[in-house]
Amino acid sequence: MIAQAIKTALETPMDSYESGLHAFFTRINSNWGIKLYQNEWIRDKTYNLQSKANLFGAAPSIGDKFEIKIPKKGYYYGYVTECIIKTHKDLFIEENLEWNEDDWDDDDISNPANIYCDQMEESQEFIELIDKLQLACITSGDMHWANVGWLKNGQLVAIDFSEEDEDNSGLTSWS
Ligand SMILES: Nc1ncnc2c1ncn2[C@@H]1O[C@H](COP(=O)(O)OP(=O)(O)O)[C@@H](O)[C@H]1O
Ligand SMILES: [Mg+2]
Repeated sequence: MIAQAIKTALETPMDSYESGLHAFFTRINSNWGIKLYQNEWIRDKTYNLQSKANLFGAAPSIGDKFEIKIPKKGYYYGYVTECIIKTHKDLFIEENLEWNEDDWDDDDISNPANIYCDQMEESQEFIELIDKLQLACITSGDMHWANVGWLKNGQLVAIDFSEEDEDNSGLTSWS
């Protein structure tokens, strides 16, 4: 898998990755993909938190870490991840093709995207996901609709840990 991951990273133009603030994501095949980061520390942090969340059924499975030098771009720090089928945002867009993100006003409670996000946050599967993250002692401050989605088996999981942290504040101290 690591050889396929590096081959994919070297063959994929940077502007064809899906990206947010930190990660560049592309698929290797229908089950596995790669995430690249320009910052090694953020790669390591997301890798560690995703690995831990996966043990609690709250994140995709994780593969190897790797590092590559992309010609004219520099060093990228990556890892292999199981792919989700789609995020909540992807599903909303599929079902609301006329919705335009550029006109989206976060404060307009009648906007269908805001109604959708509210319903997502009240759904049983979303509440269970946040509970699992809490059990794993991982914060969930950035779990918006583009950062959660469904695995092939229908399980809702978190995919983006770049803004999350270990939250050990609830642990009992025995010392
Ligand atoms: N495991 C995954 N499976 C499928 N798509 C993913 C996966 N991880 C990330 N993506 C896609 O890449 C986008 C950016 O990844 P994300 O981890 O949210 O990075 P950022 O920290 O830059 O927001 C996501 O919104 C999603 O569309
Ligand atoms: Mg994100």
